[in-house]
Amino acid sequence: MISIVNFDINGCSYKLPVVYGTNYYEKAINISKLRENTGFITFDPGLKNTGITKSSISFIDGEKGELLYRGYPIEQIISKCTFIETSYLLLNGELPNTAQLKSFSENINKFNSISQEIYKILDKIPMSYHPMGILSSLTCLLPTAYTKNSIKEKDMYFNLLAKLPILAALTYRKKVGLPISYSDYEDLNYNLDYTSNLLKMFFSVPKKYYKRNTILTDALDKLLILHADHEQNCSTTTVRLLGSVHANLFSSVSAGISALWGRLHGGANQAVIEMLENILKSGGNIKKWVERAKDKKDSFRLMGFGHRIYKNFDPRARIVKKVAENVLSELGITDPILELAKELEEVVLKEPYFMEKKLYPNIDFYSGIIYQAMGIPKDMFTVMFALGRLPGWMAHWKEMRLNQEPIGRPRQIYIGYKKRNIH
Ligand code: ACO
Repeated sequence: MISIVNFDINGCSYKLPVVYGTNYYEKAINISKLRENTGFITFDPGLKNTGITKSSISFIDGEKGELLYRGYPIEQIISKCTFIETSYLLLNGELPNTAQLKSFSENINKFNSISQEIYKILDKIPMSYHPMGILSSLTCLLPTAYTKNSIKEKDMYFNLLAKLPILAALTYRKKVGLPISYSDYEDLNYNLDYTSNLLKMFFSVPKKYYKRNTILTDALDKLLILHADHEQNCSTTTVRLLGSVHANLFSSVSAGISALWGRLHGGANQAVIEMLENILKSGGNIKKWVERAKDKKDSFRLMGFGHRIYKNFDPRARIVKKVAENVLSELGITDPILELAKELEEVVLKEPYFMEKKLYPNIDFYSGIIYQAMGIPKDMFTVMFALGRLPGWMAHWKEMRLNQEPIGRPRQIYIGYKKRNIH
């Protein structure tokens, strides 16, 4: 293993140290002193070749299609853990024992309410506004309810795990015309497990017994786990950047939610369903849409395909596909969108364009089909993604603060006017 990289610039020799990850093939040239020593910076649009931190939270091998949370393969986490155990693992580094899990859940429950002020703001927001904008704005406002007493750091994590689902559920209820009132949502917080409670907050009807649906609860728990972390993606990097300037956790997560909203990131789950519906509406001619995606002159892309890191199957996509098939078959739903999605996947995987560029279905390709079966409106799919990604965002924020990482502030190569005068 080499520990130093030598290079020459204008006849001068320089040495740069090499940094290795747990897996020896993950290696980086440490350029942190490059500008100081040589006057040069690196140029890497899209940060495709830039490691911004050392992290021990999750690991992706994009070539193999492997994802680990704190060392555990995602396939094992999915079959052996709940979302709340996964959240504990991501935040604390190890899986909880029974007592730790109980205390973690009790701590979340302690914060299972929102202030009157936040509730009143939500009540005034027109429901034509996008739920991701609502979630991001209200998350940012949450700590204003605590102006008198600042929130302890450990309580911030419990607070967000408790309050984000409430904000999402209240938005949903208001959107679909289910009654909400300050006291109603408090009534909704029964002594259920996290994911059952989440579904109950969304779908329960006052004065009517809410019957827990194990198929949907299990499917949602799995989706939350699959979304829980994915190393330095755009929204997580955003959260870390905010943390680097000591923005509080709430505003950092709020910025993460806004980043996730992008259609090339988490917003793709909504875009996928809209795309599949358009394909169906226009006669279901898959070939025509695939040709459009290949055409460089056409801005259309097949949503739900491709990934910055995975150059093989996204392991989460395989699991989501199975969950979608199970949920629909167990609920006895025949969804033409699922059939179309499977057909499209089959066609795409045989297309040389997609094979050469190593474009495979990503997590967003099938997840919307499950949300749809649950009764979640399309414009709230990305909200569900955010609820899942929350522990990952918080674990990264915590890690970067513990490591006392410097302010995230890249440089640029200026190509504008040279200095000039106003005449
Ligand atoms: N359809 C058609 N062509 C595609 C697609 C696609 N879905 N994705 C990538 N390509 C092509 C690009 O046109 C480009 O071609 P070129 O090299 O001839 O110019 C090549 O593949 C590489 O694409 P980039 O955009 O450079 O790759 P990058 O790593 O920057 O982007 C991304 C990855 C944004 C996910 C991209 O694949 C995409 O836009 N996919 C569709 C949106 C999507 O599903 N996003 C969800 C990602 S998962 C997540 O964030 C949770």
